[in-house]
Amino acid sequence: MKPIEPSSEFLLRVSRSPALRGTVSVPGDKSISHRALLFGALADGPVEISGLGLGGDNASTMTALRALGVPIQQAGTDARVQGVGLAGLQEASGALDCGNSGTTMRLFCGLLAGRPFVSILTGDHSLSRRPMVRVATPLQRMGAAIDGRQDAARPGDLFPPLTVRGGALQGIHYQLPVASAQLKSALLLAGLQAHGRTVISEPGLSRDHSERMLRFLGAPVSAEPEQRRVVVDPTGWNGRLRAGAVSVPGDLSSAAFLLVAALIVPDSDVTVENVGLNPTRTGVLDALQAMGAELEVKVTAEAMGEPAGSVRARWTGRGLRGIRVAGELALRSIDEIPALAAAAAMAEGTTEFCDLRELRVKESDRIACIARELQRAGVTVREAPDGLSVTGTGGGSAQGGRVRPDGDHRIAMAGAILGLMAPDTTEVPSQDITTSFPSFAQLLQVLGAPVS
Ligand code: S3P
Repeated sequence: MKPIEPSSEFLLRVSRSPALRGTVSVPGDKSISHRALLFGALADGPVEISGLGLGGDNASTMTALRALGVPIQQAGTDARVQGVGLAGLQEASGALDCGNSGTTMRLFCGLLAGRPFVSILTGDHSLSRRPMVRVATPLQRMGAAIDGRQDAARPGDLFPPLTVRGGALQGIHYQLPVASAQLKSALLLAGLQAHGRTVISEPGLSRDHSERMLRFLGAPVSAEPEQRRVVVDPTGWNGRLRAGAVSVPGDLSSAAFLLVAALIVPDSDVTVENVGLNPTRTGVLDALQAMGAELEVKVTAEAMGEPAGSVRARWTGRGLRGIRVAGELALRSIDEIPALAAAAAMAEGTTEFCDLRELRVKESDRIACIARELQRAGVTVREAPDGLSVTGTGGGSAQGGRVRPDGDHRIAMAGAILGLMAPDTTEVPSQDITTSFPSFAQLLQVLGAPVS
């Protein structure tokens, strides 16, 4: 496969920034938007979604659902999904293109495992290299036939394109090999279609948006977070979720980049409003506070069992200090490690990022990419198999240059944030950023950053 060549048409230029100031909202949470669309399709009537994420990943879920015969009308961040119920899904006439979205591919595997037809799931260059045996194995045990591409360099695993031949499923008890919301959600979707109970246990509590939303929509799902276990038992259930309204809060994973920017650029004061504050996602806030950041976190609303509110980040002049991010804290900030690494790069002392082997199989090998990009910016980094240690410049400056995001939206944004601290220009190929945060550059500009 050919590597992706950055195109100069989509180049973001970032210069050293004056203070960032203001109050902004970020686009809808990507994880919750996927679920609102997908679970909406299984409802027994229309589901009105507000605050939908407009990134490429959510668009992939929407396109795939339409290909399965689900009518969806979208106007900006509002969407109306005409739920067809599980039985109303139809075989697609071609492959379902999941783009860059691992969540789309893995959740659709679970959904389609129980449908009586054949589906082919494809993805872009990055998604085609991500491991899928982790989702295929339990679904095969439940009774689905799933096949994929093999790679001699990574024996024993399966890679997209995947073929899913769905059929009658049997409930299972399954211990996930890694804490993963994508796997857990795939098995929940399969479990809803299975005969008997499905019990899913995981080694740590991954984000629980599926459990919360499925329960809100009336699915026979019960969560036991202390046991890190979810149970689905569709016996006696009519196979349809409740129609209604779903509102999606802003994405904390996107907000994290703006908050880190505010903490490292002198004299900044930034508030992000209406952002999701689900405790399985707020590790980034805990980590930043442990680093000495001044954050004001207010939970102001709860919709569908999802807390939301505002976060204010202020530069204090006292600077950030290195900490250890490991275990449960690492899991609760899994998508924010690139943003935290940018904070660590400007902190005093060393930040140890551990227990993060999963970062090797995200949209890029994030450990290798972060290490390379921080080194390019003049920061001392040591890479380990399951993490990295970053010795910060103590609030000094970074070096500019050309960021190489390897097709990864979060590496691109972390590179741009560091560029705010560089006396020379930082260039960021920005087409990847639309995966999750299309208004990233625009919001930075609103806050006063010299981004063009
Ligand atoms: C996601 C789960 C996480 C996360 C990803 C989104 C989800 O992946 O990293 O960005 O929406 O379920 P894993 O399930 O692989 O941990």
